[in-house]
Amino acid sequence: MKISSRAERIEPFYVMEVAKAATQLAKEVASSDRPMIFLNIGEPDFTAPPLVREAAERAIRDGSTQYTPACGLDALRERISGWYAERFGVQVPARRIVVTAGASAALQLACLALIERGDQILMPDPSYPCNRHFVSAAEGEAVLLPTTEAERFQLSADKVEAAWGDKTRGVLLASPSNPTGTSIAPDELRRIHEFVRAKDGITLIDEIYLGLSYEDAFSQTALAIDDQVISINSFSKYFNMTGWRLGWLVVPEALVPVVERLAQNLFICASTVSQYAALACFERESIAEYERRRGEFKARRDWFIPQLEAAGLPVPVVPDGAFYAWADCTALSRQLGVDGSWDFAFELMKRAHIAITPGRDFGSADTRRFVRFSTASAMGHLQEAVERLRAL
Ligand SMILES: Cc1ncc(COP(=O)(O)O)c(C=O)c1O
Repeated sequence: MKISSRAERIEPFYVMEVAKAATQLAKEVASSDRPMIFLNIGEPDFTAPPLVREAAERAIRDGSTQYTPACGLDALRERISGWYAERFGVQVPARRIVVTAGASAALQLACLALIERGDQILMPDPSYPCNRHFVSAAEGEAVLLPTTEAERFQLSADKVEAAWGDKTRGVLLASPSNPTGTSIAPDELRRIHEFVRAKDGITLIDEIYLGLSYEDAFSQTALAIDDQVISINSFSKYFNMTGWRLGWLVVPEALVPVVERLAQNLFICASTVSQYAALACFERESIAEYERRRGEFKARRDWFIPQLEAAGLPVPVVPDGAFYAWADCTALSRQLGVDGSWDFAFELMKRAHIAITPGRDFGSADTRRFVRFSTASAMGHLQEAVERLRAL
């Protein structure tokens, strides 16, 4: 069967090989005194809080399970709009919010609505691999620009300007980022957007980890800059609803009918039960629980990163959000007699039974040096991982 060149262009998710090997080894060592610790996982260890689960059960019991409008339940769009006002002090009208099947569907809609074949989209290296694949699925070309520690592993306005060419259509950023957990400084983001806008380009920003932001200096949505910014968000991370497949995007007024048309055709709507459940995310009780959990993620970061560094794995930029640590494994790899982050990840898995994610999928510039640890795991697991790292 002939496979489309579009599909051929999508690279495999190499980390799945590491995850598969970790799952296999985990079975073998399950009853040993050192069962596998999974620090490779990019989803919260918390599940949806009680009111959300009850709302889902109620929707099923009441038979509220038909299709919703393509842009989502009006009540949910209103609640998301209210969240922007309460948490960020930013007015985002509900009519500009489109509810989707996770940030993944939101990114697909944005890319399909805006990218022509051959259009180039500038992105930081390292960045979340699927985001560049959404660009190539829309027949655009993701251009990864190597970033430095000084830039917090994010793009700068100067870099965007230097890389902008005839085919460049815009930027796709993520703040805070996966895999680094670092955000773009607000002034820099404003400069990037002003440059992009002057070029008549598009600023797409993936804010899926914005709810899990720990520093005031980086806690603002890019929507505060301009209503032409396109922001992608999700119920997966801050709201702890990964498998419920629910997210949203905020688009400029003029783009709503275009995205709505695409959403109607491609998805009909996001999961109805999940949408009814998500209404309860914004109840006072649920938000209080989410904030408590955010505090827990921050406490894990504050404890784990100094411990990692003491164990020989420096983290050049302390993450200001999300639940990742992007650690330099050069010195420890040398000590263990392995070359590069891919082999280091396997070595750590075999010798200490700790599963982590090597840099490979996130880009090519400097990713042999780095591995990603996830702190979306209970403190007890992090403590045990540190013990084993020290022993190693
Ligand atoms: C940066 C980033 N964007 C998007 C996604 C996709 O998330 P969703 O579950 O909302 O589709 C992820 C998932 O890990 C992510 O890390």
